[in-house]
Amino acid sequence: MQPTTTDPKRIFLTGASAGIGLATARALSAAGCEVWGTARDVSRLPNDLRGFHSVALDLNDPATLETVFDHALAEAGGRFDAVVNNAGGGWFGPGAEIPPDELLSQFHTLALGPMAIIQRAVPSLRSRPGGLVVNVTSLAARLPLPFGAAYSAAKAALSVFTAGLQMEETAPTRPGEHRVRFVDLQPADIDTGFNRAMSYWRKLNDPADPIAGAVRASLAASDRSMAGAPGPEAVARVICRLVTDEATAARRVLRTVGNLWQAVGGPLAYRFLPRRLMLWTVRKNCGL
Ligand SMILES: NC(=O)c1ccc[n+]([C@@H]2O[C@H](COP(=O)([O-])OP(=O)(O)OC[C@H]3O[C@@H](n4cnc5c(N)ncnc54)[C@H](OP(=O)(O)O)[C@@H]3O)[C@@H](O)[C@H]2O)c1
Repeated sequence: MQPTTTDPKRIFLTGASAGIGLATARALSAAGCEVWGTARDVSRLPNDLRGFHSVALDLNDPATLETVFDHALAEAGGRFDAVVNNAGGGWFGPGAEIPPDELLSQFHTLALGPMAIIQRAVPSLRSRPGGLVVNVTSLAARLPLPFGAAYSAAKAALSVFTAGLQMEETAPTRPGEHRVRFVDLQPADIDTGFNRAMSYWRKLNDPADPIAGAVRASLAASDRSMAGAPGPEAVARVICRLVTDEATAARRVLRTVGNLWQAVGGPLAYRFLPRRLMLWTVRKNCGL
């Protein structure tokens, strides 16, 4: 379907029931977009937004992803202008003790699921100029978190996948009007219910475990940092701008959002500090 200039933008947005995704759904709806927003439990999705369509999607259930996406795409008339891979959750605890099912779940939810959605979405995104994918990864993709090793690794996987696609799409062999833009959006700490929704190491509160205290201290530092961080609207504004302003999306390949210390200091530390010093800085910042 060829869009007309008055057609609202059609957006596929994962994780629209809470936090950054919910704020993004609200911002996009207010900007006149039509949004196909997902959650595992559709009763958690907003029902007061103009142009919002509820979609049940569990990224941890790979067999269903293609069907769910195709159904939403058909409902959207065969065209999405942008896909925002935002949904995510974490497992908090020692990387050496993450149960195999939780490890797999981190990679399905944060990397493999979004990659499958990208593969499914790209043909329709190519059907008009300016097709866009925003992958909400994390600053943890560059500055990995202690007790979030699997989370950080899965985010890094999606971030690097995004970089690969950015190079492929801008190769001279790809005609300009069929290029899909990819933006790696890396929030620093954002004040959402993310930590409350996480799964935790089973020994977190075990008084006999020698490192449980350190894990709890790191979690408390993360809770404090998130409580003082910008709200999800800060990220939603950036996503909304990328989606509605093609010139902005064309300029961006990587964007960090958060408070000044993390969003500016973090990437500088990543770029300029020797690895050992960078890890020491992150560890101290995480209360260890
Ligand atoms: N908050 C931060 O400080 C921060 C920092 C960096 C990056 N991020 C990233 O930003 C994104 C949004 O996080 P948030 O802070 O807004 O978290 P949130 O408030 O906990 O919201 C997470 C969203 O993801 C959905 N979700 C979780 N697991 C899912 C799964 N297996 N399949 C489908 N949907 C799933 C949830 O929907 P249901 O539970 O209703 O299904 C919910 O809508 C995540 O990718 C997160 O990693 C957050």
